[in-house]
Amino acid sequence: MRSYKAKMVEPITLPSRERREEALDAAGYNAFNLDADDVFVDLLTDSGTGTMSAEQWGALMRGDEAYAGSRSFRELREAVREVMGFEHVVPTHQGRGAENVVYGVLVEEGDAVPNNAHFDTTRAHVANQGADPVDCPHELARDPDADHPFKGNFDVDAGWELVEDVGAESIPVVVLTVTNNSVAGQPVSVANTREVAAFADEIDATFVIDACRFAENAHFVREREAEFADATVAEIAREQLSYADAVTMSGKKDALVNIGGFAAMDDPDLFEAAKQRCILYEGFPTYGGLAGRDVAAMAVGLREAVEPPYVRERVEQVAELGRLLTDAGVPVYEPTGGHAVYVDAESVLPHVPKERFPGQELVCALYLEGGVRGVELGGFAFPGTDRPDLVRLALPRRTYSREHLEHVAETAAAVRESAECYEGLRIVEEPPMRELRHFSARLEPAAASPSAD
Ligand code: F0G
Repeated sequence: MRSYKAKMVEPITLPSRERREEALDAAGYNAFNLDADDVFVDLLTDSGTGTMSAEQWGALMRGDEAYAGSRSFRELREAVREVMGFEHVVPTHQGRGAENVVYGVLVEEGDAVPNNAHFDTTRAHVANQGADPVDCPHELARDPDADHPFKGNFDVDAGWELVEDVGAESIPVVVLTVTNNSVAGQPVSVANTREVAAFADEIDATFVIDACRFAENAHFVREREAEFADATVAEIAREQLSYADAVTMSGKKDALVNIGGFAAMDDPDLFEAAKQRCILYEGFPTYGGLAGRDVAAMAVGLREAVEPPYVRERVEQVAELGRLLTDAGVPVYEPTGGHAVYVDAESVLPHVPKERFPGQELVCALYLEGGVRGVELGGFAFPGTDRPDLVRLALPRRTYSREHLEHVAETAAAVRESAECYEGLRIVEEPPMRELRHFSARLEPAAASPSAD
């Protein structure tokens, strides 16, 4: 049951089939190039796309725009202390700003940084320091059917293998991403968090948690880890984060805002160094590239994110979308994660070979069929990897209703039924940096090209 009611609404329309065909063609078969006005149900991301509460809108009006020493900053610092348990906070314009601040301080050329799985921007910031981002995912992470409560966990044995390969002195930081966005939004257990903390401690590395979706993760821990069955989400979140030396946070996820982020830590030396880098890249460390009102709204959102009715309903809504899709015969990664359902494109379009991008073709098909926008996270977005072709349908927080989810499931089922109409895509234009090609590349239907094989 939804634990809120709508107070402000925004119209959305399903454009005609003809308009969708035109729009997709003009977008070069890349959903990032679509005008949002041409999209009906937008599941491109859960980042910054959610609905703020009346309390957050109220805080926005009260925001203190002082350049230095803003009251809104103190509100954020109090919220971070209470909800996450860290003494110091450095606000940033969004999550990647926090990554720049923290990894810019801690990571040097030639280092290696293990993570249960790096999100794109985390990977890019580590690489930008001249270091090697190394994924250490759970052994079942790649299996979309394996039943395990914490497929997002960090494989500590893989961490030790890295130590053997490069030496502990080359590993300044160990990162744990909760929930694990690059592994279908799967949660990480507190037991695993303790193991990773012990590993980081043994090799004398700083332990950083990428806490973007910390509240959703805490909800899963409550449901699935016996030790925490009677604890509240707020208590679990505090406990899990207490093992980290620092967190990087995108407020656009579990602080329920449209823009904002921060880094938080206890160590005064790390805080001082992070503040200096914040001044260089983000702004004075009491506003960090944000308007005071955005800082104020983030402080309120952080507290709301650990309220039990909110977070339970949030994760259940994602599970509900997963169930609707499965019932409609659409294969999805199991179990469903915290913020998104990941559809197995290779099963929906089994006749489309990997080199014709079945995932990206499914993204286009979902748009053509029902104006639904998702994102490919497979061979198109991650060239040169053997990632399975999954399409992520991420749910913005507190935004869509069950009818929208039903529309998404009906759309996906219709695509599955007419699967043979979709023959795959080929790239006609891509930017020099292949790692970023999914944001701007242009494609065309493979069948339309005279050189199609
Ligand atoms: N870490 C994780 C795990 C993320 O999912 C994201 C963003 C970031 C860091 C960076 O945060 O966008 O505020 O700079 N994920 C979004 C997504 C973009 O669609 O999954 P940001």
